[in-house]
Amino acid sequence: MKKKLLALTLVAALGSTLLAGCAVQPAPAAPAAAPAETSEAAPAEEPAAEPAAPAASANDKLVVGFAQIGQESGWRDGETNDIQWYAAQNTDTIDLIFADAQQKQENQIKAIRNFIEMGVDVIAFPPVVETGWEAVLTECQEAGIPVILVDRGVDESCADLYATQISSDFIWEGAQAADIVGDLLEGKGKVVELEGTVGASAANERKEGFDNEIAEKYPDIEIIASQTGDFTRALGKEVMESFLKSYDEIDAVFAHNDDMALGAIEAIKEAGKKPGVDIKIVGCDGVKGAFEAMVAGEMNGTVECNPCLAEQVFDTAAKLKAGETVDKWIVSNDGVFTQADAEAELPNRTY
Ligand code: AHR
Repeated sequence: MKKKLLALTLVAALGSTLLAGCAVQPAPAAPAAAPAETSEAAPAEEPAAEPAAPAASANDKLVVGFAQIGQESGWRDGETNDIQWYAAQNTDTIDLIFADAQQKQENQIKAIRNFIEMGVDVIAFPPVVETGWEAVLTECQEAGIPVILVDRGVDESCADLYATQISSDFIWEGAQAADIVGDLLEGKGKVVELEGTVGASAANERKEGFDNEIAEKYPDIEIIASQTGDFTRALGKEVMESFLKSYDEIDAVFAHNDDMALGAIEAIKEAGKKPGVDIKIVGCDGVKGAFEAMVAGEMNGTVECNPCLAEQVFDTAAKLKAGETVDKWIVSNDGVFTQADAEAELPNRTY
């Protein structure tokens, strides 16, 4: 297959890999004869051939360029499915141009520049890290293309360069996780922290929320180690293995996402301990796998982070295209779940 800079793909050509989004709904019919590699993520080397994307001027549809981070977690796959599914259900009014940046900021920036060249109506993306966006966001502004930050934020210096952020409150999530850990340990014990991607707002703010809540409310709980697992299950497992070798006493793990928590569960089992019992485990996201682990007694809690943002993203994009103003931060409404809720809630999980 020819290498491309980015897998820029019209949603209409996504092929049979397109999954249902977050709402409980029937799966869409597979579009005709789209080869599997059409939607495959491609290595970032040669510049992409200019994709045959519709420009804003070419039709009346809402043309949205979405530069996804990559596929680091089950949560992110859920978000991608939701965005693609929603656009596929609304092809009469929406054209989605989707890029997969394969975890690299430089690829997100290239994708955004491609979207500017295409003249899309609105650009939406989850910034993989908080810093380094000033130049490209300024280019969006100069091109008159409004930007929606989806599920993560950028640093304060860029506050005037985007239209809105649609995301969860990560500080709140971290604080909720701390309270679950505080209850589980009855206010006393040693905790390790598996952090998300270095420099990501989801990691920085969950850490801030968790560490501050522990410091303020649980003086006898000590965070003995904190290291990045990059939001992936594989690295979550690896880092947990090294924590288990370094520390004799670990009473609880706070993982900045459920994928890393699930990785930690594997490491704890392999070390001959019982996850959820010998070592309590709390994550963030609320993915199905976390609920299954809670039902199995191997995980103790998760703080939801809603990835089902498609409807809000496209509705907001339509408003921005129409010149309306929108709130600077559109905050998701998330829940907190422990083992006690897991069995009843599991059938409701859509991601
Ligand atoms: O920005 C949201 C975070 O990013 C989710 O918690 C995580 O799973 C994802 O990778």
